[in-house]
Amino acid sequence: MTMEIILAKRAGFCFGVKRATQMAFEAAGKDQKTFTLGPIIHSPQVVQKLEDMGVGVVKDLTNVSDGTVIIRSHGVLASEMEEAQRKHLEIVDATCPFVKKAQEHVKYLSEAGYDVLVVGDADHPEVEGIVSYGKDKVYVVASGEEVRKLPKMTKMAVVAQTTQSFENLKNVVDECLRRGGEVRVYNTICDATAVRQQEATELAQQVDCMIVIGGFNSANTRRLAEICSELQPRTHHIETAQELDPAWFVGVDKVGVTAGASTPKWIIDDVMERLAGINNSD
Ligand code: F3S
Repeated sequence: MTMEIILAKRAGFCFGVKRATQMAFEAAGKDQKTFTLGPIIHSPQVVQKLEDMGVGVVKDLTNVSDGTVIIRSHGVLASEMEEAQRKHLEIVDATCPFVKKAQEHVKYLSEAGYDVLVVGDADHPEVEGIVSYGKDKVYVVASGEEVRKLPKMTKMAVVAQTTQSFENLKNVVDECLRRGGEVRVYNTICDATAVRQQEATELAQQVDCMIVIGGFNSANTRRLAEICSELQPRTHHIETAQELDPAWFVGVDKVGVTAGASTPKWIIDDVMERLAGINNSD
């Protein structure tokens, strides 16, 4: 028997990733030397496709003296941007406009003398980039508790990594308010992540098996897989259709499918096609 397959409405590329990928594919082939500074998005398959079109990945600009550099969706360090300008490289800035906003806020607030708190994960490249736009006194905090460990401040400003939850931002702000003094808050959260997670939560409860598609190096895909696993133990995180194992679907009537923000449509289509051919009574 065939299974009913339900694809989440917002599975796959968010606005910023779609834009960045389009910009990268458009830039490919225009210049002999085109590369991305770090992987353009967290999808090994997209990175490979670009590489096949002659667009490689460089870790830094040390050995680059000319050509076109594509800036990834979650941005790069301010110093890397300056280096690209200094070297007169052609810059295709695919930084997501929401990430750019957070970078601009940090720059302005830091110049205006605020101690800036960035709510997020200190090791994430997006956060490293956002922080680099401040002068000094920029602190990354993962939670409200971490605010308590900070030195005394009189002018505080808060921005958030775009993928943070609203609750966490609120906890940090509450802690800041408790400390007194001036507190300026910029909600730089992008709701694409929350919407995708909400849909996955609803879908995982309606089906007998969940498939989450996306790079194993993509934090938002891994989080989606975690959320689904909590509600549906038969959850599988895959990168491509080839990983689908028919044994997973024995006795399954309804299967739900979602995908991280960096998963291209062609991979989702492949998975849907392969699922449609799987017999659940094998
Ligand atoms: Fe941009 Fe939001 Fe995607 S910040 S890269 S649209 S998750």
